[in-house]
Amino acid sequence: MKKAPMIQSVSVHKVSTPVSGALSFSGDKSLSHRAIMFGALAEGKSSFTNVLSGEDCVCTRKAFEAMGVTIEAESPETLTVWGKGLGGLRASATALDCGNSGTSMRLLSGILAGQSFESTLTGDPSLSSRPMRRVTDYLKQMGAVIEGRDNANYAPLKIKGQRLSPIDAKLTVSSAQVKSAILLAGLYAKGCTSVTEPVLSRDHTENFMEYFGVKIKREGLRVSVEGGQKLEARSFPIAGDVSSAAFFMAMAVLLPGASIEFKSVLNNPSRTGIFEVLKRMGVVFGNWNDGKMAGPEKVVDFSLNAQKLKAFEIKKEELPSLIDEVPILMVLATQAEGVSVIHDADELRVKESDRIETMTTGLRKMGADIRVEKNTIYINPNGKKTLLRGTEVDSFKDHRVAMSLVVAGMIAKGESGVKDTHCINTSFPTFFDLLSRLGIVYKVDTIK
Ligand code: S3P
Repeated sequence: MKKAPMIQSVSVHKVSTPVSGALSFSGDKSLSHRAIMFGALAEGKSSFTNVLSGEDCVCTRKAFEAMGVTIEAESPETLTVWGKGLGGLRASATALDCGNSGTSMRLLSGILAGQSFESTLTGDPSLSSRPMRRVTDYLKQMGAVIEGRDNANYAPLKIKGQRLSPIDAKLTVSSAQVKSAILLAGLYAKGCTSVTEPVLSRDHTENFMEYFGVKIKREGLRVSVEGGQKLEARSFPIAGDVSSAAFFMAMAVLLPGASIEFKSVLNNPSRTGIFEVLKRMGVVFGNWNDGKMAGPEKVVDFSLNAQKLKAFEIKKEELPSLIDEVPILMVLATQAEGVSVIHDADELRVKESDRIETMTTGLRKMGADIRVEKNTIYINPNGKKTLLRGTEVDSFKDHRVAMSLVVAGMIAKGESGVKDTHCINTSFPTFFDLLSRLGIVYKVDTIK
């Protein structure tokens, strides 16, 4: 069997010739996970096109296959899921490996909490060091028996499913993963489960529940679901990943003379905070066509036009709508006149890496001036935009850090090298194909 290359580094030069092209993106990661999960829990056949074939979603797919769900792949992006209904999963003979994927581990925990069998969830070193008590504490309150290091805070997690009781959860952190885990467990609880968030996080689970025929009640920041409702099978294309498109949006803004058309990108206000920040930076959206749906979610076509970039400020309340875009927004901020501030970004510390630390390390090495006070980030604190210089930087095995630094390399003087870029496959396996499509030259070094 062909073994995947383990270490891969990428070098890029400053891009000075105009790039152009029309791009569509593989399925949104959050939506692709949910399509597989909801398809598996529904009754009958669901088919999805444009599913993300990145490693994170493959983990979710393999987990359900291991629990007896048949998933046929016409291609890696076109899946037919033969749903087993809420009660149809069976125990996996082996541990369910979630790899690098927080969404797989946290949402699966919710589903497994309501099963009549025991499961074990494992992950890679990054995932095994990310906090799980934010989910497991609530699931335990609902009646699940969960074991793991530090009082079920770290994987591996052993989950003994039980008959669940509903809870009325008041979250202290806005997290779609936590909200979704509780709502999915709520499907197995007898009675009405509610979750209230401090600020709305992405509402895909709510949208999917409604689209798959489950009645939910949304009242501001509170969402409730009555247990025992059946999911009806559905088929639809997955909207293009707005978090992946964000890297190309940055290129459209930063590369001189760039002309990029974006096709069928997910357009959900709980995810598109980056659109609002770009507008505040002075970027103009053109050719806006938002008339289409991709199953439960809206999509939009657009292009971008940028002149001089203005600094931005992001308050804590806005963070959930752009949480995965902060790394690339930090790159954009280095090129803006004025001081950009990202307030209270503590959640970035518990992503695939501590993104405050890893992005600051990489960008500072390239010459950026960044000050961090507790969890607030000041970029260009002296108000002047930075001339980045090419050098060797590290992704710290975090896909979004890797792609952000590759983009930084495209505007830095000379040549830049980004170490450990294999991780990009977790969320955006076509990243380099799309760079080639735009005519951007890069070099990949693989060490086996
Ligand atoms: C996700 C939610 C976000 C996001 C992650 C995917 C989801 O995490 O960072 O990449 O699919 O629900 P949190 O909800 O924990 O902030």
